[in-house]
Formats: sequence, structure tokens, C-alpha cells
Amino acid sequence: MSSDGMFGEFGGQFVPEALMPAIEELTDAYDRYVQENEAGFMDDLQSHLRSFGGRPTPIQRADQLSERYGCEVYLKREDLVHGGAHKLNNALGQVLLAQYMDKERIIAETGAGQHGTATTMSCAHLGMPCEIYMGRHDVNRQRPNVFRMRLNGATVNPVDIGRGTLKEAISETMRDWARTVETTHYVIGSVVGPHPYPAMVRDFQSVIGREAKRQLREEIGELPDAVVACAGGGSNAMGSFAPFVEESSVDLHAVEAGGSDLSIDGDTGIAPNSATLSIGTRGVLHGSHTKILQDEDGQIMESHSVSAGLDYAGVGPELAALVESGRLTAATVDDDTALEAFHRLSQTEGIIPALETAHAFGYLEAHGEALGDTVLVTVSGRGDKDLETVIEESHRRELDVGFDLSVFDAEVQ
Ligand SMILES: Cc1ncc(COP(=O)(O)O)c(C=O)c1O
Repeated sequence: MSSDGMFGEFGGQFVPEALMPAIEELTDAYDRYVQENEAGFMDDLQSHLRSFGGRPTPIQRADQLSERYGCEVYLKREDLVHGGAHKLNNALGQVLLAQYMDKERIIAETGAGQHGTATTMSCAHLGMPCEIYMGRHDVNRQRPNVFRMRLNGATVNPVDIGRGTLKEAISETMRDWARTVETTHYVIGSVVGPHPYPAMVRDFQSVIGREAKRQLREEIGELPDAVVACAGGGSNAMGSFAPFVEESSVDLHAVEAGGSDLSIDGDTGIAPNSATLSIGTRGVLHGSHTKILQDEDGQIMESHSVSAGLDYAGVGPELAALVESGRLTAATVDDDTALEAFHRLSQTEGIIPALETAHAFGYLEAHGEALGDTVLVTVSGRGDKDLETVIEESHRRELDVGFDLSVFDAEVQ
């Protein structure tokens, strides 16, 4: 990365003038506290991640999957982080950083609600007031997380514009930030946005890959042949990949949401997928130059995924650069395959994954045997938040899940 936050031709700081002072202040704080460990910031963070967050998370050999695919499948268990997803690694880092910067208030956007929950938990833990923006559509499909955020004492603002998903929530949070920059820190939940966010969020999430690398060396004495992670904005993926990027023997696979199909309809402005790395084109979204889903006039398209956390029309600029350079393979898994993988992991390994995470296991089902002798898959989160969606969607699609879903579906309605 260059000093102005470019990853090759991707990244940068495309923000309104009003936000530049806040971006510069944050860049300075990132350089000093995160990169230089000034005032022992990173040690402080590590201590909170250990005592509050439950780190380090284990790696686990997935016995049934290893047998099924004829290779050693290891899982990095980020579903065991406090709150149930990797999102806490970054949220806790940014809320603590805001305290070191003497900020008085936190705002954040959320899609699946996992980042929002991680942020409100971090704020309650560190004693910071917190306001969350969430698209109306996501509020409706992620009710347990909305309740959890309210329980943590945060205000949750539903966003009614557009289709009411993550894209609109980010825009609304940026609007709030432009009005309140002096007192407020905006906790972005993925490796997106203007510099320093993509680099800073990657650094906070790299604990995933660093721990996994050390744990694999201790347990099997070698590096994996492949690392597989699902990617929405890309924080789970970048956090899993970053410590392996320089290891040329390790292949990296980012799995995006293929939705219902990989088409793009310029006339309706709808992409029934969120496959930004795979079929997106270059453009600017939320402050950085990256790959996005856009029509011929540069209008951002409505994306889709059965999993709220992957439903985003942009992606982290560093991931876009890694794909462009050939270092990273971008792949897609559609809604049906992800749902099947959700049930498979629940039944064979006793792990109920987030629907986002299930995409990585859908990819394993399609390519597991070809990925090498040892494959590391990050379980980015647990699936409790998705149970209502899974019941509804599995029933609607008449998936054979081994038991009668209609009983549960009736209860949901
Ligand atoms: C469990 C889980 N995994 C993955 C994601 C996707 O986000 P990212 O690509 O930033 O990891 C989300 C987003 O909410 C999530 O909740």
C-alpha cells in the first residue's frame, strides 16, 4: 500500500471536503496508535480481545468434511468470538481507538447486524454512547441483532431510502458523520471506505490469519495449501488472507454471493447477486476506488444475497487489487448452494454457521478436492441470527433438509 492508501490502482480517499479533517485525524491516529503502537494501544487492544472478546479462537480439524473431500479441512472458529462473529475484532479496535482520540460518540452502519452488534457491545464495554444506522429491509430480516443492539443501550435508526440495505445505511452514516466529525468517530465495519479504513480494518482483522498460521504450524507443522473465506465488503477475507499473502505456496480464495444468478440488468438497476469481485467494474463507492456493481451510467445497482452481510455492491480495494494481480481467486456461490451448505455444516460438524460463512462451505463442496492437501476455512460467524431466514428460505425452495420444515415455518409467520 502506498502512503496515500492506494493498493495498485484501487483505494484512495474520495470524500467530500467536509470529511477531510476527520479522515486526516484518523489517518494520523492509525499511523501512531495502530502501526507504531504508541501509548501501548495495540497491547491494550490485545488485552481487551483476550478478556472481553474470547481470543484466541481455536482452529479445529473438521473430521467429516476432511473425509468427504479427501483433504485435511481446518476451521478457524471466529464464530466463537464474543458476539458470534469476527466483526468484534475490528469494532473493539475502532471504539478503543476513538477513546484514544478523545472522541465522545460512536456511529456505525450495519447490514447483517453483526457489525452493529459488535460495535454496540464494544461501546457498552468501553462506556461510549452509540448510534447505529441499518437499512429497513435488514432491520426486518435480522431482528435478533436489532434487539441485541437495543439491549446494549444503543439507538438503532432504520434507513428507509433505496432498498434499505447496507449501501443506504453507509450513505446515511456518512451524512451523520459530516455533521458531527469533531465529536464523533464512524466505525466502518469492513475493509471499505476511504483510507485509512481498508488498511486499518485489515490490520484489526489480521489477528484471524496470524493466529491460524501459528496454530497450524503448532498443530501440523506446516502452512495450508489454500485459505478460503467468504467476502462481502471483505474484512473476514482480508483478515484471513493478509498474513498469507507473502506465502506464495498458499492459494487464496474469496467467495462472494452469487445470489440467484450472475446477471446484471442495466435497465432495472438490479443485480440479483453481490459478486463484485467477479463481475463488478471499476468505480468509486463510499470513498474509495474499487470494483462495484454499476450500470452504464455509473449508477450503483441494487445487489442481492440471501445473506444480509454479503449484500453489498462494493468490495474492499485491497481485495480488488489482489484479484487484479492474480494473487487471489474470486469465486461465487449462489443462494441455494449456500443454504445447502448451511444445513450440511450444521448436520455433519455440529456448527450452525452464519449464512455469510455458509458460502465458503458451498465453495468447498464444489472445489474441495481440488484445493490441495490442507485447506483452511474461516468460520466467520455463527448462524443464530439467520434461523428465521433459513427456515423461510429452505421451506420456500423445498430443500431436502432431512426433516419437516413447514412446522417451523408456520411458527415464524
Ligand atoms: C458472519 C459474517 N461473515 C461475513 C460477513 C461479511 O462481511 P466481511 O466481508 O466484511 O467479512 C458478515 C457481515 O455482516 C458477517 O456477519
